[in-house]
Amino acid sequence: MLDASGAARAGAVLTIDLDAVRANYRRLRETAGQAACAAVMKADAYGLGMEMVAPALAREGCRVFFTAHLEEGIRLRRLLPADATIYVLHGLPPAGSLHTALEFLQHDLIPVLNDPAQVALWRRASRERSQRLPAALQFDTGMSRMGMAPPDVAALLADPAWKDEIDPVLLMSHLACADEPLHAMNDLQRERFATLRAHFPGVPGSLANSSGIFLGAGFHHDLVRPGAALYGINPQPGHPNPLRQAVSLRARIVQVRTVQAGDVVGYGARYVATGPRRIATIAIGYADGWLRSLSGRGQAFVDGVAVPIAGTVSMDSITLDVSAIPEERVRPGREVELLGEHQTVDDVAREAGTIGYEVLTRLGSRIHRGHH
Ligand SMILES: Cc1ncc(COP(=O)(O)O)c(C=O)c1O
Repeated sequence: MLDASGAARAGAVLTIDLDAVRANYRRLRETAGQAACAAVMKADAYGLGMEMVAPALAREGCRVFFTAHLEEGIRLRRLLPADATIYVLHGLPPAGSLHTALEFLQHDLIPVLNDPAQVALWRRASRERSQRLPAALQFDTGMSRMGMAPPDVAALLADPAWKDEIDPVLLMSHLACADEPLHAMNDLQRERFATLRAHFPGVPGSLANSSGIFLGAGFHHDLVRPGAALYGINPQPGHPNPLRQAVSLRARIVQVRTVQAGDVVGYGARYVATGPRRIATIAIGYADGWLRSLSGRGQAFVDGVAVPIAGTVSMDSITLDVSAIPEERVRPGREVELLGEHQTVDDVAREAGTIGYEVLTRLGSRIHRGHH
């Protein structure tokens, strides 16, 4: 719900289009065919705000969710119906005590077990509770980031006693190069995943992230795990985006001035006016996630007209050259568009030399969040 006073006080407002998020979910679920479609909620639903996004997806029928951290899982649990499953990707915290492991049970969260130490701790929790406990098992199929390597899996298979204590409810792995459909890693990881899965007959499998869903049915298994595409990021770079933009970001003009030829603007005096220019200062900066690498190269929009960033992005403000816009449309208090109809998350990412994921997840806590 849009908090009118909060929005009025804020320098910038992020508006989430929940219909777009829900339409994206439906689109991904259709593309995934027979596989169930989960939603990845880590980093506060990629910066959009878990409180808004999670219940909307639950209403759309989503029943499987992923967070990265235990703390995120605890927050998410309160937002979802009791029959929703929440997996915590990082599993049991590295220096985790039995007490922390038991918190998973308290909040009805399922850990993704990524290494033998996590398996051992979950087994201890099982003995403590005298209960067989559900877990996802993650395999490293080549990304070398998270999950059990083949020798870990071999060790697990050599001592089947763990199965009395742990109920493996999902087998998963993660693709390193799914956004490059022709990359040899995709088939290699799929084959390694198949080999490892064969040791656990009957246990559902999950490999695909957003881009993986578009690699075809051979990557869908039983459950797909999109994050980025739900939030409008293009899962197939270089091709038209099949998803809808899910956010708009608007920042307020704080001050407007006219500079003359030779005047400089911003830190480092990087921008030098070549003639009379009107400069508008807006209330968003790199502390809000508008990346400093956009200094002198990014743009905003006023009524659909591009206005270039003039000079260096500051912590709390950005200066724009609004000379092309009639004065009455760029007065203090008016808003400019940073994300929305005229500029997508992927556009900004390209300009900033990063990926849409980073643009979204950096959007800071000072930005007011609402939805329509
Ligand atoms: C294990 C795992 N699964 C799924 C996802 C979702 O990926 P994407 O946002 O590319 O859909 C992530 C995010 O990086 C992840 O780490």
